[in-house]
Amino acid sequence: MYRLKVDSLMLLLWASCTVTRGISDVEVLTPKLTRCSHERAYDMYGAYCGGLRLDKIPNLKSSIEILDFSENRLNELQADTFTNYPNIKFLYLTENQLYRIDKDAFAPLVYLQTLDLSNNVILELPETVFQLPSLRNLYLKNNPLLHLSISNLEIRKPIKAPLELLDISNCKLERLPNWGTIPHLVKYNISHNQLKTIEAQHFASMCALKKVDISKSIEEIKTCDLKPTISWFQIKAISFELDDYSKLNTEEFNDCPSMTGNDLEILNTTHHICRSMYLKFHNSITSRRTWLTVIGGLAGFLVCFMLLLYLMHRHNVAQTKEPSEKIKKVTPKNESDKHASIPILNETSDVSRL
Ligand SMILES: *[C@@H]1O[C@H](CO)[C@@H](O)[C@H](O)[C@H]1NC(C)=O
Ligand SMILES: *[C@@H]1O[C@H](CO)[C@@H](O)[C@H](O)[C@H]1NC(C)=O
Repeated sequence: MYRLKVDSLMLLLWASCTVTRGISDVEVLTPKLTRCSHERAYDMYGAYCGGLRLDKIPNLKSSIEILDFSENRLNELQADTFTNYPNIKFLYLTENQLYRIDKDAFAPLVYLQTLDLSNNVILELPETVFQLPSLRNLYLKNNPLLHLSISNLEIRKPIKAPLELLDISNCKLERLPNWGTIPHLVKYNISHNQLKTIEAQHFASMCALKKVDISKSIEEIKTCDLKPTISWFQIKAISFELDDYSKLNTEEFNDCPSMTGNDLEILNTTHHICRSMYLKFHNSITSRRTWLTVIGGLAGFLVCFMLLLYLMHRHNVAQTKEPSEKIKKVTPKNESDKHASIPILNETSDVSRL
């Protein structure tokens, strides 16, 4: 605990030093570019402000979908920082000096898909980041996310963000935060943290996981404590990256007790819950699509049907105009003829009943 305090103090000191650093000679000599450029890329409109040494976001066009504000001197994100840019889908804030993020800073960004906050000095991340409804890629690497590790930040579960990639490498984590179920997560980078424990259960709630990087993170964990996690990776064909696989080829590792049937059942249950959340999400998308197709088809059919009716009506009107007199001649003239038509009518109604 004491070491942690010292660590965070040093970090704060370092952060404040870099923030208040004066203008160096080099900066005076080089011409100062301060204008962001607006460009269209990947069929999206974006603002590019990378490396301009700005300490706040200038006025930009409100329709931007990409904002690249990397390599600047932003140190905090306030509740109203992004209110004018609700269309942002890709936000790059890597290599700033961010240390404070208001809990409502990202709230207006309901279309945000990629958020890059790597290489900053963020100690405390607001939980609201994990509730962004469209967020798929989240980069947090190289931030001292001490708070995440100490207090196990209370995250509302299940998290709303449909995360597919999560990078928390080199974030000074000693244990992995409890995210709850993350049904869509495919890539998970937890390398370069000094983890004290690792649990298979943590990965069982990520049922789409394909790749996890645990290199330089498991040195302090006892060999046998790794076994359940490694076994789970093998059962679920999750590829994992390690800097040194030799630890897993030792006799010691082989002799570690394997998971009991009970352990496996618990993991299976967690995985199953995750899987049903995953399927529910995908089914709701497919059923929405199916409904749209059905409604579209019905509307098309109705239009065609009305058109057909209209054409038939026109046709009939054209035909009934002249032969109306002929029909009069065909109608039965006496009583006996009228009766003759009754059995025929009955016969047809019998057929239609069948
Ligand atoms: C994970 O993060 C580390 C450190 O940031 C990086 O070197 C490594 O390439 C990343 N792994 C993957 C699979 O992207
Ligand atoms: C857990 O799931 C795996 C494969 O999904 C299966 O082979 C195994 O029998 C299950 N174990 C238990 C105890 O439910």
